[in-house]
Amino acid sequence: MASISWKTTWVFYILLSLLRLVSPVDAACECGYSVNSTSDPQHAVFTDLLESDFTKIKNFQDDTDWQPQVWELDPKAALGPYGRATRLESIIPNPAVNISVNSRGIYGGHSGLNLLVPKDYTVIKGEKYLIGAELDSTRNDMFYGTFRIGYRTTKWAGTCFGFYWYHDDKQEIDTELLSREINMTHTLLNLVLHTQVGGSNLEALPGTFEVAALPYNSSAEIHELRFDWTPQAITWYHDGQQVWTISNTTLFPQEAGHLVITHWSNGDPLWSGGPPEGNAALLLTYVKAYFNSSDLKRKEDHEVRCEAVGGIDDGGSGNDKVCEIPAQMGPPMYDGVAPQDLPYFFSNDLSRNATVNQTVYEDTKKKTNGNKMGGGSGTGNSAWGPAAQVSCFLWILFLVIMPMFTGSSFGQMMLS
Ligand SMILES: *[C@@H]1O[C@H](CO)[C@@H](O)[C@H](O)[C@H]1NC(C)=O
Ligand SMILES: *[C@@H]1O[C@H](CO)[C@@H](O)[C@H](O)[C@H]1NC(C)=O
Ligand SMILES: *[C@@H]1O[C@H](CO)[C@@H](O)[C@H](O)[C@H]1NC(C)=O
Ligand SMILES: *[C@@H]1O[C@H](CO)[C@@H](O)[C@H](O)[C@H]1NC(C)=O
Ligand SMILES: *[C@@H]1O[C@H](CO)[C@@H](O)[C@H](O)[C@H]1NC(C)=O
Ligand SMILES: *[C@@H]1O[C@H](CO)[C@@H](O)[C@H](O)[C@H]1NC(C)=O
Ligand SMILES: *[C@@H]1O[C@H](CO)[C@@H](O)[C@H](O)[C@H]1NC(C)=O
Ligand SMILES: *[C@@H]1O[C@H](CO)[C@@H](O)[C@H](O)[C@H]1NC(C)=O
Repeated sequence: MASISWKTTWVFYILLSLLRLVSPVDAACECGYSVNSTSDPQHAVFTDLLESDFTKIKNFQDDTDWQPQVWELDPKAALGPYGRATRLESIIPNPAVNISVNSRGIYGGHSGLNLLVPKDYTVIKGEKYLIGAELDSTRNDMFYGTFRIGYRTTKWAGTCFGFYWYHDDKQEIDTELLSREINMTHTLLNLVLHTQVGGSNLEALPGTFEVAALPYNSSAEIHELRFDWTPQAITWYHDGQQVWTISNTTLFPQEAGHLVITHWSNGDPLWSGGPPEGNAALLLTYVKAYFNSSDLKRKEDHEVRCEAVGGIDDGGSGNDKVCEIPAQMGPPMYDGVAPQDLPYFFSNDLSRNATVNQTVYEDTKKKTNGNKMGGGSGTGNSAWGPAAQVSCFLWILFLVIMPMFTGSSFGQMMLS
């Protein structure tokens, strides 16, 4: 009797295992991603995900989550002795040889995406310009979210690194780091909430501008800059430590927007400083954004996906319909850590199947994670217009034509 049930159990177990081999992995996180556990009275749930692991990106055009920008502001418009221009050539991927072994990129140095401000000016139509780079998220429907970037600034004084959420000049959650404001022991972070109620871009209202001193040289290693925007608060973090928070909600943005990453200089001694004395590369290792969408189609999709597994609220039975986003405490580590201790990405954790119907850059190649959304996901009001189209064309030109002339030595040359 005992032996029969033992055998039955084993047959059943083996059958089950075989079944698992052919059946799809259960999904997870259908109801979203949370800051803090949902059992914590203070938590926030976000429905959508945008994760870019820049240590793995070889060809930037594969990452349809970002639109590299190409534009020019003449010296007068740029408010500096120099004009500002962004170029695709200033966006230089340096993917890891093997990130589970160490951080080294194929061009040497730390792997990641470099945004370069060359030390030499460029003459355009008879005027001097400093070249930089800008990436805008394709998604333009972000309304509330937690936005995180792994970065290492340039050691060359004279550039500005901006990481911000943007609707327009009066609805913007801004973080700017000036490389001239880095010394051996400290880095200053300029935090600004651009608001609807008075105060222009340059003269922020009291209570909407803060300069935080971080106790390290941010060009020495990778750190994580983060800001969370919920209905209750806008809070900036650095390496998981809270830096500043605004809770006067009358000042908060009212419309959806997108993410921007910039690295630039216009030679203005009062802000960016520069030109930098060396080719100044800002290194980015990732962006992770978890946010709510203003797009009706996306909202509906979340509702259907979440309802199908019983809804967002089921009395905290410990299921994984809402997944807690791991908090990055301390600097993100790449060397001398086990692969499971590298920065976490739901979209890299394929066995968990935690990004069904989310945007995942690998989808264009692998199609393993459900539907890739089209650019902009029908959110209307593209903030980029002709510039984005020009940029797209130049991008193709750059990727297809340029390598014929320069090969891989281009990145090496610029990063050395
Ligand atoms: C992930 O889950 C979705 C939804 O349940 C399913 O359709 C898909 O096949 C799963 N993917 C894998 C790789 O198992
Ligand atoms: C998460 O928890 C921390 C610590 O309790 C709190 O300061 C923070 O506001 C919480 N975040 C959210 C989005 O509720
Ligand atoms: C990376 O290194 C690990 C550990 O040595 C190895 O198992 C893996 O196959 C390597 N991956 C690639 C793509 O070479
Ligand atoms: C910060 O650290 C980098 C890398 O170690 C170094 O090159 C640079 O000189 C340091 N910056 C300052 C201002 O000490
Ligand atoms: C470095 O910067 C911090 C923050 O601005 C400042 O308090 C400190 O005095 C500076 N150190 C040196 C050596 O200039
Ligand atoms: C995001 O949207 C979901 C679904 O509508 C909602 O449950 C959640 O509270 C929203 N998050 C925030 C921070 O408002
Ligand atoms: C919030 O900001 C508005 C606009 O500046 C101001 O009028 C109001 O007094 C502020 N509220 C608090 C509680 O500080
Ligand atoms: C994914 O989205 C598509 C269309 O947006 C929808 O038809 C499908 O049911 C969704 N899948 C899941 C698992 O929610």
